[in-house]
Amino acid sequence: MGAAGETLPRMIIRSAELQASSPNLEACPPPKLPEFAFIGRSNVGKSSLVNMITRSSGLARVSSTPGKTQTINFFTINRKWNLVDLPGYGYAKVGKKDRAKFSGVIADYLRKRPNLQVTFILIDARLTPQQIDLEFIHWMVGCGLPLVLIFTKADKLSEKEVQANIDAFLERVQEIAEETPTVLVSSAKKGTGRREILSLIASALEPEDPSAQDE
Ligand code: GTP
Ligand code: MG
Repeated sequence: MGAAGETLPRMIIRSAELQASSPNLEACPPPKLPEFAFIGRSNVGKSSLVNMITRSSGLARVSSTPGKTQTINFFTINRKWNLVDLPGYGYAKVGKKDRAKFSGVIADYLRKRPNLQVTFILIDARLTPQQIDLEFIHWMVGCGLPLVLIFTKADKLSEKEVQANIDAFLERVQEIAEETPTVLVSSAKKGTGRREILSLIASALEPEDPSAQDE
């Protein structure tokens, strides 16, 4: 271990390429590289976060109209691992059964993709706890899938307001999960959270591949 402050592994992005856009699990590319997925409600900022992480403006398609991302999009980073931009849930006011709120395609991918390491669940930092996010987390926990929470759009409110919303959310999460999940905060607009998200990915990759940041 290095001196204080050096314990977080660094990750340098040397390349980022769109590898595939797949309509369902069967059409996904072979599960060769370790994968990290972004999921969350429509419009929460998944695609914006892909662009922020990769420091590109148009790699992932961003739109103020919810439901922009309809396919599973694979971005290969440093030719070593994949960042996966998933379609949003809770779009189109399906409002029937809970199951209908996120598609079978998303459920299939999350449950059956063997190379999926961690799923980042994006939560809008501006909102009070939303039922649909809690239901989704409940489903993830039930499936035993590792997750990290990212509170997005933090630039839209004060640090104090963000923290209050995180606290309120975690209180609700306690009702459905035994362990408190890791929590990160992001702003695609300001670049907040980039280093922390990449550090987390680097440490997940490290046991298998100590040179994860190299080409
Ligand atoms: P779908 O693909 O439709 O599910 O949406 P998404 O989750 O990929 O969201 P997207 O990245 O397309 O962003 C939705 C809207 O939120 C866009 O207008 C973005 O500019 C805006 N947005 C995303 N992230 C941030 C952020 O950190 N700060 C601010 N202020 N706006 C953001
Ligand atoms: Mg999107």
